[in-house]
Amino acid sequence: MTEKSLSVIELLLTAEIYNTQDRLFANDIPSEIRRSFWDSKIRGIQKPIKVTKAVVKKIYDIDNVEEALKINGKKFSYAIIDENSGTVRLTDGGLEAAAQWFEKQEGAQEIINLNPVLAYYFQEILKRSNVNYEDTASKNPPKEASREWIQSIIEELEDDKGNGKEWLKLAYIKAPEEVRETMEELILTERQKNELQKIEMAIKNKEHLKQIGLYDIGKVLFVGPPGTGKTSFARALSKRFAVPIIEVHLSMITDQYLGETSKNIDRVFALSKRFNPCIMFIDEFDFIAMSRSSADEHAAIKQAVNTLLKAIDNISLVEDGVLLIAATNHTKRLDDAVWRRFDEIVDFERPTLEMRRQILDSILKKIEGTIDTESIARKTEEYTGSDLRMVVREAVLSALLENRYNLIQTDLDNAIKSFDRRSGLKSASYIERI
Ligand SMILES: Nc1ncnc2c1ncn2[C@@H]1O[C@H](COP(=O)(O)OP(=O)(O)OP(=O)(O)O)[C@@H](O)[C@H]1O
Ligand SMILES: [Mg+2]
Repeated sequence: MTEKSLSVIELLLTAEIYNTQDRLFANDIPSEIRRSFWDSKIRGIQKPIKVTKAVVKKIYDIDNVEEALKINGKKFSYAIIDENSGTVRLTDGGLEAAAQWFEKQEGAQEIINLNPVLAYYFQEILKRSNVNYEDTASKNPPKEASREWIQSIIEELEDDKGNGKEWLKLAYIKAPEEVRETMEELILTERQKNELQKIEMAIKNKEHLKQIGLYDIGKVLFVGPPGTGKTSFARALSKRFAVPIIEVHLSMITDQYLGETSKNIDRVFALSKRFNPCIMFIDEFDFIAMSRSSADEHAAIKQAVNTLLKAIDNISLVEDGVLLIAATNHTKRLDDAVWRRFDEIVDFERPTLEMRRQILDSILKKIEGTIDTESIARKTEEYTGSDLRMVVREAVLSALLENRYNLIQTDLDNAIKSFDRRSGLKSASYIERI
């Protein structure tokens, strides 16, 4: 019994069960299988799905299906390969016997517990008590987390008579499955954790908020110096909630023609609404939302800022499924009209001693060597999470120069010295320039 055989038979069972059980939908299919059957028109998976040799090759990189369907040298008796069409399927009426055979194989229980379609069948039809469909389904990433989902919406935009294609140039769109940042890696303050819970509650209770008429919820402003985790937090949210993140840099939408800037603002908000549900992350927020009262201001800038404010007013988590997050380094540049539009302000401060220690522990988790992170944390006052990451990177590189994969305390101590020297240089040259 090889892993390949088990994979192909899992696929055949999944297809057969999915095709015959009305209560199963695209979200029940494991993401690596779902990808191959995705139908972008309906943004889901049309029944019935058909397994072919090509599909087996695509999902598992198996060239020889006949070979994979041999069990101890003998042909697996519950499967049929149609040489003409290349289709592979279970024999008529063979599902139950195939399933009973499958569950007895080594490693099969793990597979069933990761595949909601199978879990459903074993629990509901074969009445097995050691499988839990709900549990398995909750662990399977939903279709909205996949690249195909985003791709379907992008295709739709490209087909649009309007300017869908142009809109796509204004933002980076990422699927949660492509996001690397995770909440677990971020060291958060108590207040940040609290904000996270509030956002989570708002998303889960969208319908309730709608019913009681609370539409102006779900607009969050992240404030703090560079490198304190604002972007990482927004991306980790996308992963946590399994919804795409639309990253907008205001420098990307600012055009030399200010009228165009206003149009771009409208376009990028319209774009986000098409991705419902999603997170819209506006970085460099102060780039445009600076104080409207400054004297040297051009009327057209005011118009762009007004467009931005109006667009913020007209987007809603409750109605459009868009969680709006804006990030800024400069609080002083934002005027009251801007502040008022956000229902939550999340502070990203430079990490405390204890947080620095935890951040270091988190970064060093996968690196060999016993390091006294407490001592490093003491030497890195004012460092941000991003600074600490750079220090560790420097330490790893200098250890590599000595042909070591493991880190020792001096590597980090030296890295701090060189970092301090570097930031000293940075601020000196900055002062020279101004
Ligand atoms: N609190 C933290 N815990 C763990 N890692 C952190 C923390 N803060 C920052 N980092 C790390 O520092 C790096 C930079 O963080 P990030 O880009 O999110 O900062 P930022 O606040 O968006 O900065 P900027 O204002 O320059 O855009 C990331 O790799 C992140 O993992
Ligand atoms: Mg950032």
